[in-house]
Amino acid sequence: MNRAVIVGSGSEIPPRRVTNDMLARIMDTSDKWIRERSGVETRYYVDPGTATSDLGGAPARRALTMAELEPEDVDLVVFATMTPDHYFPGSGSVLQRKLGLRSVPCFDIRQQCVGFLFGMQLVDAHIRSGFAQTVLLIGAEIHTGFMPFTPSNWDFLYGKGDTPPSPEEYALNTRFRNLTVLFGDAGAAVVVRGVDESAGRGVIDSILCTDGTDYEKLYVPGTGFLRRPYIDVGQIERGDHIPVMDGRYVFKMATTHMAEAAQTILARNQVGIGDLKMVLMHQANQRINEYVQNLLAIPAEKVLHNIHKYGNTTAATVPLLWDECVREGRLAPGDLVLMVAFGAGMHWGATLLRA
Ligand code: ACO
Repeated sequence: MNRAVIVGSGSEIPPRRVTNDMLARIMDTSDKWIRERSGVETRYYVDPGTATSDLGGAPARRALTMAELEPEDVDLVVFATMTPDHYFPGSGSVLQRKLGLRSVPCFDIRQQCVGFLFGMQLVDAHIRSGFAQTVLLIGAEIHTGFMPFTPSNWDFLYGKGDTPPSPEEYALNTRFRNLTVLFGDAGAAVVVRGVDESAGRGVIDSILCTDGTDYEKLYVPGTGFLRRPYIDVGQIERGDHIPVMDGRYVFKMATTHMAEAAQTILARNQVGIGDLKMVLMHQANQRINEYVQNLLAIPAEKVLHNIHKYGNTTAATVPLLWDECVREGRLAPGDLVLMVAFGAGMHWGATLLRA
């Protein structure tokens, strides 16, 4: 039987580097608060007009180049995003056109910060069953569309305009500060190929969990088909198109479930921390990851953090970490890797694989 082996990766970071101090120009926040509470120091934003499929397409091309493959070799696409270009079709179809792929099936999945882990399991199942041999798995997000900032707020943030936010605009921006300061735009992709299990590489095990009991603790209240029409001026005026989060609740859930998923997958595969080369944890908050790292006694050299540079990039985070590790020479074929993530849904999981 074939196993799902990552044979190429790529990433795309958009051009606008935004510091915490820049955000503090348009809302009541500070570099100190953001750094201490989350670990984020900078994040990158796209310019208007860039699509999530662009942030997914560029790294997909790089991943194919690394794997020495062509677009026509791809026979399945899985695109994970919570910020698609359009309500429908999903970004997979748009990417299929942009990359000039054959008319291969494209799945669009939306498990937010755990999208890459859900995607890996889907890819693994398709490869094991023989349905696919060469798969593109993409995670990309443009969070800036959620930001409540007006065009002149954007200019002021970038130091281009001299009109500060009005008191009403400042209050609106501040209302969503617990969420907006955490996120950045990015895309990353991997090429996964079926390799005979005798090579001892590929996905070994996955734990995927969903519990929707408290989904409203992190969600977008409006712009859904619960409303008629699904979007209207009233929703925009109320800010219902912007996500809301009970940060403390989500923090507690994330630490509990990430630690539990990691411990379970290691125990049931009889793998110790010493056997792992790298532990790639979703980057929602540096403090969440430090908690998991301390609880499991994971040495610092086995963990890569990038939240200080990019913020939370949702579905792009785990493949971005993978790509960074490979390009920095921190991962080589045969290395054992643990991926762990938690996000809105609530979804969480862990994936154990050999590079
Ligand atoms: N700047 C300044 N002050 C702020 C900011 C800000 N950006 N945001 C919130 N505050 C204030 C609050 O208003 C509050 O003030 P008060 O005490 O006067 O009421 C105070 O800071 C503390 O707020 P908390 O929300 O309790 O702060 P906390 O320490 O919990 O940190 C955070 C907030 C960073 C959001 C944290 O709770 C967290 O990371 N939660 C988990 C996030 C996560 O894992 N999300 C899942 C993935 S995302 C996805 O799936 C899409």
